[in-house]
Amino acid sequence: MWAKAVWKLVTMSVLLVAHLNQCRAEKEITVDPPRDLQIMDPGHLGQLHVHWALPTSLENVTDCMVRFQLQYFDYEEERWRAVRTVRLSYSIQFDLEKDIRVKVQTMLRGPCTGGASELQSPPAELHLQPPKTGPPDSKIEGLSCIFYQKEYMDCTWTRGRGKPYAKYHLYFWHEGMEQAAECPEYLHSHGRRHGCRFPGDTLLEFTEFNVCVNGSSSGPLLQPAYFTMQLQNHVKPAAIDVLSLEPLPGGGVCLEWVPPKGKIPEDCLEFEVESVPEGKVGPMLRNVTRELSLIVPDQDLCGGLCFWVRSRVHQFCSDDSFWSEWSHTHCLPESPDCLHTHTEAVILCATAIVIIMLFSLAMCWLVYRKIMKNRKEDILL
Ligand SMILES: *[C@@H]1O[C@H](CO)[C@@H](O)[C@H](O)[C@H]1NC(C)=O
Ligand SMILES: *[C@@H]1O[C@H](CO)[C@@H](O)[C@H](O)[C@H]1NC(C)=O
Ligand SMILES: *[C@@H]1O[C@H](CO)[C@@H](O)[C@H](O)[C@H]1NC(C)=O
Repeated sequence: MWAKAVWKLVTMSVLLVAHLNQCRAEKEITVDPPRDLQIMDPGHLGQLHVHWALPTSLENVTDCMVRFQLQYFDYEEERWRAVRTVRLSYSIQFDLEKDIRVKVQTMLRGPCTGGASELQSPPAELHLQPPKTGPPDSKIEGLSCIFYQKEYMDCTWTRGRGKPYAKYHLYFWHEGMEQAAECPEYLHSHGRRHGCRFPGDTLLEFTEFNVCVNGSSSGPLLQPAYFTMQLQNHVKPAAIDVLSLEPLPGGGVCLEWVPPKGKIPEDCLEFEVESVPEGKVGPMLRNVTRELSLIVPDQDLCGGLCFWVRSRVHQFCSDDSFWSEWSHTHCLPESPDCLHTHTEAVILCATAIVIIMLFSLAMCWLVYRKIMKNRKEDILL
């Protein structure tokens, strides 16, 4: 009897729990993904606008915060990147030679979530493929850009193997421009375009600088190539041309130089000094410094010492940079004092050698005499 009552109670509570769970499942709140996900290309050579609309079910929600999580695939780093925003659009730099993959989710936080800390919708997704224009070997093979002393920039390319006679065009865009523009001054080699020179006023640092090289041959279009860079990472200073050397009274030498001409702030430069004994190859000293002088301590300067210096932008001003060309070689002449002691040593050495040679000769002669004498005695016996 008791056992039966307990059994009944257990069954009832199990049923009750099951019923409660069912209620919760029915009331579970779901969030809709964003509507009308679209990608627009304003012609900025890689910077695209992604935009979307609020899901209809959330139009009148006032007691909850609505945010969006945008994810896009970064081919350079080979991973998905994510940003969260309350806005309905976002600009992203893409590589237009690669597929474009974007996902956007709605995120809901507040009283309307029924107790959950944050609710997430399934993603709205887009996957776009680049249009196929031209054969792959018509594309240029690479672009190399050098921002000379922050005054002008030269970008040069290697022609695609498939279309040696194609005529290439270069277009560029950065944040300060409304529209992409064509190269202001093409560089030519053997009568064909192989690069572009950008005067300083067309350039902007610390933001994406997008470049597209496309073109036409007699037949079909060429496959366009896209590049994006930050110009401050392509700076090459001018060579240093004022360098002075001064021997110090206590031995050693003091080198001083004047920073190279151009628009690079002086405190963004570091310098490399190399010194080589005159007439020899290979550096004897190599030193990198941010100062405008270097004291090379107590050297044996007798043989004469040559120095050269170059510079680049250091890591606190950019992520990357090019070394300048080396300065002209500056040499400290052979010191007359050194020459003196040098000669003395040579004379001393020579005298010692002569004495040793004479002594050896004398010894040889004595030994020879003795042998000859012994022989004569043998014969006589
Ligand atoms: C939101 O409110 C507007 C105006 O009050 C109404 O027309 C619309 O149907 C509502 N939307 C939803 C999803 O309830
Ligand atoms: C090359 O690219 C620019 C910029 O996107 C575009 O305006 C131009 O029409 C393209 N030229 C060719 C031949 O495709
Ligand atoms: C470079 O020169 C500085 C200053 O003379 C000195 O302190 C430093 O040790 C030198 N570095 C090398 C690698 O010779």
